[in-house]
Amino acid sequence: MGDNNKQALDRAVSIIPKPVSIKVLGGTLNLKTLNEIKLAHASEPERSVSRLFQKLLEPIKEYKVTKSTVDVGKIFIDLDPSLQMLEEEYKLVVGKNKSTYLTAKTPSGLFYGFQTFRQLCPPELEKGEKPTNTSIANLIIEDFPRFGYRGMHLDVSRHFFNVDFIKTYIDMIALHKMNVFHWHLTDDNGWRIEIDRYPDLIKKSAWRVDREHENWKEWSPIKPGEKPSYGGYYTKEEIKEIVRDADKNHITIIPEIEMPGHTSEVFAAYPNLSCRGDTLNVVPGTYWPNVDIFCAGNDEVLIFLKNVLSEVIELFPGPYIHIGGDEADKTRWEECSKCQKRIKTENLHDEKGLQSWFIRQIEPFITSKNKKLIGWDEILEGGLAPNATVMSWRGTEGAVISAKRGHDVVMCPTSHCYFDYYQADPAISPEAFGGYTTLKKVYSFSPVPEGLTKNESKHILGAQGNLWTEFVKTKERAQYRVLPRMTALAEVVWSPEKFLMYDSFYKRLLSLQKRFDVLGWTYAPGSFEVSIQANKKTKSSEYKISLSSEKPGTPIFFTLDGSTPTTSSSQFVEPFFINKSTDVKAALLINNKQLGSVSEKAFYFHKALGRSVKYLTSYQKRYSGEGQHTLVDGLVGTEEYSDGHWQGWEGDDMDVVVDLKKKVSIVRVSIGFLESIDSWIFLPTRVVVSFSNSGREFTNEKTIQLSSGAPLSPPKRIAVKFSGPRESYRYVRVQAENMGVCPEWHPGGGGRSWVFSDEIIIE
Ligand code: ACM
Ligand code: ZN
Repeated sequence: MGDNNKQALDRAVSIIPKPVSIKVLGGTLNLKTLNEIKLAHASEPERSVSRLFQKLLEPIKEYKVTKSTVDVGKIFIDLDPSLQMLEEEYKLVVGKNKSTYLTAKTPSGLFYGFQTFRQLCPPELEKGEKPTNTSIANLIIEDFPRFGYRGMHLDVSRHFFNVDFIKTYIDMIALHKMNVFHWHLTDDNGWRIEIDRYPDLIKKSAWRVDREHENWKEWSPIKPGEKPSYGGYYTKEEIKEIVRDADKNHITIIPEIEMPGHTSEVFAAYPNLSCRGDTLNVVPGTYWPNVDIFCAGNDEVLIFLKNVLSEVIELFPGPYIHIGGDEADKTRWEECSKCQKRIKTENLHDEKGLQSWFIRQIEPFITSKNKKLIGWDEILEGGLAPNATVMSWRGTEGAVISAKRGHDVVMCPTSHCYFDYYQADPAISPEAFGGYTTLKKVYSFSPVPEGLTKNESKHILGAQGNLWTEFVKTKERAQYRVLPRMTALAEVVWSPEKFLMYDSFYKRLLSLQKRFDVLGWTYAPGSFEVSIQANKKTKSSEYKISLSSEKPGTPIFFTLDGSTPTTSSSQFVEPFFINKSTDVKAALLINNKQLGSVSEKAFYFHKALGRSVKYLTSYQKRYSGEGQHTLVDGLVGTEEYSDGHWQGWEGDDMDVVVDLKKKVSIVRVSIGFLESIDSWIFLPTRVVVSFSNSGREFTNEKTIQLSSGAPLSPPKRIAVKFSGPRESYRYVRVQAENMGVCPEWHPGGGGRSWVFSDEIIIE
């Protein structure tokens, strides 16, 4: 096979998202031999797609000048609404009669067919360059998406992004066959949309003092007389231009206007709309907790919002209006006489009821304008407005509740869809919001949560990747955060579930990255971490160890003696077994150069291994680790609380008894705890061990007091070690006292605190 043919074939089998059906026929079609674009009906959608073909193929000059009268060498475009096809389906045939045939029932089907054609073509065409290789593979593709909602979000409040970048973002979405752009236009750090009726929103609420040189979380206070100089907004004309651009790309824009919380920026211009009426400065960094919110007792607020929404609705032709609804702290409402009066006169239960009332005032207004209300999952609290669609971000619980009540849901849980989180080792990555969501993790996302019937699952419209921009100052950084994680999500929401194999995706991604390079799009290199997985049959006394990474094909080297792996260490080829306490270390290495850091996992073959644990207080189901054996499985956790090794007690103490089955001489007990303050997880204030042979009365009690961490300390694991009792016992009890509630200085102050434990090592 010639080099050109091979490259053409490589591109054909590398399409992302992977098509439903692809038949590679052998041989290639030379783009130079295409001489005419033929439209079946000459309808506007056909013309529109023909322009995309023309523009893409422009550098191949012969294409325009040669005219053929014979029925070969054409690009046929056929939009036929009477076809038996799905809404976004297309069929693309390359090579038949030395031509290319694109068929669809809808304009968006045609558009996705073109996006596939684009990926079949040499990437140089993307920047208008004539490629040396003009072959594309002969094939037949039949394709349609798994989910109808395939979205990407962008926060333009924390940092502002200009019209050019928004257009690039739209192109990024289109190349991935995604179809929703969720535009987060307002938030505490700046109002970004021109509203004629309230001109001060763009004069005052769109600007803040410049603290770009400071850490987002630690900005310095605004000085007297200091002028706001960082910010920006989109004029109505710019918005119309972007709406047109999105429309051409078959992308629906969902504009978001936050309420009742994340609105302190509004009070720089219209302070009377807040509970206290103070004029505030737009904050140049973290604003938390979110106390300054719209006053729900003031009718002016609802009038303001309806006027704003009327202008927003006129600008955006899509079906949805996003009203935010997230993280509205109720402190001001609790103190505000107007809000309290509203709670009484409307017979509401409490402030949560007031939030629900607030959203229920807005919903009929939106419905009356033939639009649908969508909001973050907090809109569930205190009762959901009747026609609302829910965006499920705090895990998947809200999604399940909403779908069961018959509401549509968009999935974007922080665990898999927050692209502001780290995607690789924080130690070697640009600063991110927190979290840790690798490419491989995104790819493992299953949009339909457990616990829904088949019918209820139909309410899961699809999924969305979210980019909050606290730590995203530039367009390059924005691309770096989402690429290639949005590529993984695009495949999750488009391709059949049975095709979702990470190794195959990764190989195809390497090919797509060449296109990103040509397009000048920045993308992240991803994580170089080796994942050490251990499997143990319940009765077995050995572990089966597997090593993997998100870079299939890059060699993994490992050691079992505590030394740092080099290319002279063992290379991982297949799973191996260990049957004694071992420190496994592994890393990716090329030419003796270590990529990323060394992963390490310690295996403890101790006396409690595989024994039973009785829970006198139970861990929360959400944080159950690997279940009943977690505390005695010989494995300890990382600093990541959701790594599967940790069990969590919420508000309650941990109180467990390990049954060693027979009397065993005990010289040491060591218990692992996690401190992860950002995640409301604190060290226990006191840990007590005691011993027994009956399982009822416990003696030989020993106590260790601990003090919990300070604000901003990074997550850490500690082992609390007790020596003794140097006697034989059958039962060991471990009690760990939970603080109960988070301290006042903590964002969760007064809310229930957690204790997390991973292992009870008995020696
Ligand atoms: C959110 O992340 N506050 C929706
Ligand atoms: Zn109020």
